[in-house]
Parts: sequence; C-alpha cells; structure tokens
Amino acid sequence: MSKQLWNKGFQPNDIIEAFTVGQDRELDLRLARYDVQGSIAHIKMLTSIGLLTQEELDILLPALQQIADEIERGEFVIEDGVEDVHSQVEFLLTARLGDVGKKIHSGRSRNDQVLVDLKLFFRDELKNIAHAVDRLFRRLQQLSEQHKDKLMPGYTHLQVAMPSSFGLWFGAYAEALTDDMQLVKAAYNIANQNPLGSAAGYGSSFPLDREMTTTLLGFENPHYNVVAAQMSRGKTERALAVAVAAVASTLGRFAMDVCMWMCNNFGFIKFPDELTTGSSIMPHKKNPDVFEIMRGKCNRLQAVPNELTILTANLPLGYNRDLQLMKDIVFPATTELIDCLDTADFMLQHIEVKDHILDDSRYDYIFTVEDVNRLVLEGVPFRDAYRQVGMAVQKGEYKPTREVHHTHLGSIGNPANDRVAEKMDKLMEGFN
Ligand code: ARG
Repeated sequence: MSKQLWNKGFQPNDIIEAFTVGQDRELDLRLARYDVQGSIAHIKMLTSIGLLTQEELDILLPALQQIADEIERGEFVIEDGVEDVHSQVEFLLTARLGDVGKKIHSGRSRNDQVLVDLKLFFRDELKNIAHAVDRLFRRLQQLSEQHKDKLMPGYTHLQVAMPSSFGLWFGAYAEALTDDMQLVKAAYNIANQNPLGSAAGYGSSFPLDREMTTTLLGFENPHYNVVAAQMSRGKTERALAVAVAAVASTLGRFAMDVCMWMCNNFGFIKFPDELTTGSSIMPHKKNPDVFEIMRGKCNRLQAVPNELTILTANLPLGYNRDLQLMKDIVFPATTELIDCLDTADFMLQHIEVKDHILDDSRYDYIFTVEDVNRLVLEGVPFRDAYRQVGMAVQKGEYKPTREVHHTHLGSIGNPANDRVAEKMDKLMEGFN
C-alpha cells in the first residue's frame, strides 16, 4: 500500500515506485536528523509569520523532538510504501498528532527540504573530513619530526637522485594536505548557505522569513535567489567531490609510496606482522594489502567529480529527479574517504623506519651534487665542479663524502613543520 504525499486517489504502479524510489529509503536515513532540524526551523518561522499558532507550535515541537530522539537511538525507519525521509517524518507527525501534522509543509517543497537536509549533512560531513585530515596531518608531522635526521634516497625518474629524509617525506604529505584542506574549506563555504524558502525552486507567495531560518540553522547566509538556491543542488556536491578527490589524490599517492618503500627491493619501512597480510601459497609473504586497497579506493574516489559532472551535465534549470542519484554517489564517497584517512592514521602509529639507508654503496651517486656544491663553496665555478665530479663518476673513480648539509627553509635540515602547522591551524579555525 503506497502512501505518497502527492496521493490524488490513484494507486501508483509498484514497478514505477520501486524504480523511482531507488536507494532513497536507505540513503535518506543519513538525512533524517537534518530533516527534523530543518522542519523545526521551518515551523518556528511559520509561527513567526502567522501561518501556525503558538499552540500548534507547542504541539509540533515536542513531537519533532521525539522523532529526533528516535533517530539518534536508531529506531527510525522509512517504511515500505513511504517514498523518502521527508514523507516519513510528515506521516509520523500526522499519525501521532492528527491534522496539525499536515500543516508543517506550508511554504515548502521536498525540493528545498532535501536541499536543506543535504546542506546540513554536507556541512557535518565536511567537518568530519576536515578533522580526519587534520588527525592524519598531525600524525605525519609528528613522524616527520621524529625521523627528521633519517636520510633516504630521493628519486627523479625513479632513478636515485639526491639525499632526502623521512622528515621531508612525511612532512611533504602533511603540507600537501593543507592544500587539500583549502578545497575542503571552500566546499564547506558553498554548503554553508541556506536554500530553505526556495520551495520547489521558485519561492512562495507566503512572506517566508528566510533570514530567520538562516539564523536558526546556523548558515552563513541564505542562498538568496531562489533559482540559484535550487541550482546549488549539484554545485554543492561537485565542490564537495573536488575536495574529496583532492584529499584522495594525496592519500592515494602516499599509499603508493608506502607500497614501494615496503617492497623488499627498497625495504625502507615495515609494519608489525599483524598489520600485513599473507599469501595462500607463498609462506614468506607479508603484503601491504592495506595500502593497496587504500590506493585503489583513493583512485576510485578521484572519479567522483567526473561521475557527478556527467550525471548533472546540461540538466535543464529547476529541479529534476536525476539529482536524487547524486546521493548514491556522494554518500558512500565521504564515508570511504574518512575510512581511508582513519586507517592511514592507524597504520602510521605502527610504522617502522629504517636508519642508515644511505650508507649502502648502491646509493653512492646520491652524494654527487653535495660534492659538486662543496667544490663550489671552495671557489670552483659550478660548471667546472660539475664536470670534475661527472668525470670521476664516468671513470668509476667517484668516492662520496656522504656529508649532507641542507639548512635552507623547507629542506632536510629545516623542514619548517611549525610553519606548515600554522597554515593548517588557520584552516582548521573555520571548523572548530
Ligand atoms: N528523493 C528526492 C530527491 O532526492 C526528494 C525530492 C523529491 N522531489 C520531487 N519533486 N519529486 O531529489
């Protein structure tokens, strides 16, 4: 038995209902608490403009609060035959309170209702992402400081190039995350605007007080133009997806490095046995499956902006039901990103780093530039010093001094982690 809010006396076809509802009954559960929050703000506003009486508000508010409590306790479900979270909340209210429950939808459409739910949800989700990024950032910075003096090979073209350090390696990914955080913040700012009052996408003839709901819901400002507000469905998701993809690209690249440094031929880092995985045939294997799965997931997350772009490309102005399908793509994506970030943070608590890697003669040539520079400091012109060391290498006579003195800002001896932390602190202020 279907119970559509839009029921006009005919029974919709079951196949059509199942096809159009799709995954909403499950996905919308994540919007439930925000739907109630939005409704509370909306009915307070309706009361202020005389569309509900104070008595009606006093009946509705505790009933909505009760639904909010049920949601937090995990007791809220979207019943079979009910299309979505918006319908379920209204049905519950009407079932419990009678006619007054039917009044809350004045001046509203499910189009701005789902929009406001999504904005509130994305705000929280972006905050969760920001905090997960920040945790991984702090971990990387701590490891950078802890292993500041441990040298490792730097590669270009994946050929041994110049001395690097674990301090630089960990610290580099930390700083890369500050750039990603700019995009997280930008997506947050886009989400932090109130669409409520745009109704179906063209406003309402009621004198809705949109400033009031903006304040009640803690948005930075209204999405003023009602058509722009409706257009923000899609735009917000795409901004969020770009932020997710940016973080994923940094983390995915880090996961690749970890797999490579764990490879027996490098052997720069290890993890305790219980954090590695084995093979069903080769008894000796300790595989980096965690970081391979992470790399794969992060690669997949980088496809999300593209998926959303294609889903929403050239949609005509105003609400279109296609927009519903963005939830199927975006909801799992933010969860997956946070899971990857938390797993990386967990793994890094146990990372073991090899010392004295560069003492191995296979890295002799990594010191050529150091030796060229030392000659330059002794007064030899750079091109002559380069040739002198180059000829020694060519004749097989090069003997490295193995001395590394890098002191400038951002280099091995001075990675400036505190300055990088200042950048992150500033970005995080907006999320605290
Ligand atoms: N489930 C719908 C969505 O996510 C809710 C809005 C429905 N609006 C409509 N006009 N059919 O878009």
